Amino acid sequence: MTNKKEDNLMEKIVSLAKRRGFVFQGSEIYGGLAGTWDYGPLGLALKNNIKNLWWQKFVLDREDMYGLDAAIIMAGRAWEASGHVAGFADPMVECEKCHKRFREDQTDGKCPECAGNLSQARQFNMMFKTQIGAVEDSSATVYLRPETAQGIFVNFKNVLDAYHPKLPFGIAQIGKAFRNEITPRDFVFRTREFEQMEIEYFTKEENWQDNFTALHKEMRSYIESLGIPSDKVYDLEVPEEDRAFYSKRTIDLEFDYPFGRKELCGLAYRTNYDLSQHAEFSGKDQNYFDEQTGEKFIPHVIEPSFGVDRLVLAVLTSAYTEDELGGEPRSYLKLNYNVAPIKAAIFPLLKNKPELVDKARELYRMLKREVGQVAFDDNGNIGKRYRRQDEIGTPYCITVDFDTLGEKPELLDTVTVRDRDTGDQQRLKISELVEFLKSK
Ligand code: GAP
Repeated sequence: MTNKKEDNLMEKIVSLAKRRGFVFQGSEIYGGLAGTWDYGPLGLALKNNIKNLWWQKFVLDREDMYGLDAAIIMAGRAWEASGHVAGFADPMVECEKCHKRFREDQTDGKCPECAGNLSQARQFNMMFKTQIGAVEDSSATVYLRPETAQGIFVNFKNVLDAYHPKLPFGIAQIGKAFRNEITPRDFVFRTREFEQMEIEYFTKEENWQDNFTALHKEMRSYIESLGIPSDKVYDLEVPEEDRAFYSKRTIDLEFDYPFGRKELCGLAYRTNYDLSQHAEFSGKDQNYFDEQTGEKFIPHVIEPSFGVDRLVLAVLTSAYTEDELGGEPRSYLKLNYNVAPIKAAIFPLLKNKPELVDKARELYRMLKREVGQVAFDDNGNIGKRYRRQDEIGTPYCITVDFDTLGEKPELLDTVTVRDRDTGDQQRLKISELVEFLKSK
């Protein structure tokens, strides 16, 4: 349940995200386009880190996963096969007074804006439809994918023919998905354009439970690796009446967002429904041939599905911290090193001493090459620079001072390294820095 304090937390996060260049309202100078958000340099870096860690864990570190990058625009028939044309709809109600539209499940029977009476609910299909080519007829109707999953299913046979993988194996994809949400809300939580990271993991029917359990464990360990505390992530066993009709088991992994406990990601056993549908609608065989048993069958599927933007928000929410440091209040992002958009910021102690600036720049260029994701900052006094870096979650600030240049000979080529969370400083040799940062 939300309360004032938690509303406040959301406001602080949205305001920090905008002020420091993480996330901006989409089309902002034109008054904003509801349900769209633009990621600025730091938000993009954070998002890329989250995606790269996923790709590393679920694709590169395994031998049973194949990457894919399918087209966003997909043939109309594919969405007829998947059931989205007929069934990908939310019940929508309209206020009879102010004519605003809402998802029925987000109202208490009255208009949330003006308390007016609401119309009967009607089904509203959430797919964005468009036309391809110059002729406007139904054969030219195409859709922006509302999930990346179908791009994977329609390529199942291609991957099978090109690589001859043995079951079980997965196809993984990161990419944009589009849904014409009736009421986008809660910052990047529910948007009309968002990013998904999905795997379709193909298995023999009799092995679905083992693979479901194993993937569930991997999902939880990935979430934890981003710095989202495990005890804030809950498994919701979705009851049969709320599951898609073809799913035999679904777990929604929910997170305590400031606006309530909501779905972060999901794990579903989709049986062999999708591949069977595509076989029927396309007329193309989707069978797998088991060389050992000589059997031909359509594999079953376990689907771990992540929304990148919901992870970004969960990471920001988990990291946002207010404390006191050196007798002064501060707010900062206690981001895990692996997701932090900037790993270290390099400062010359004084801006007007060329020898310090040159040395700091040299160090900055070296660390950029060796570590990547570092920043140079010579603007304002050191205290202000610390606060600026704390606010965006930079774990370390490295200062080049006169001792670095040899004022105290025993400290030649050493720098101070300040820890974001404790404010503690240590003196390290420049030659130790790459190792020090890489070990984090
Ligand atoms: N292929 C399965 C599928 O798409 P879903 O539960 O509809 O399942 C999967 O979506 C994930 O995509 C969700 O758990 C959520 O993280 C993300 N997601 C869904 N709709 C979203 C929206 N409107 N805005 C942001 N993320 C969304």
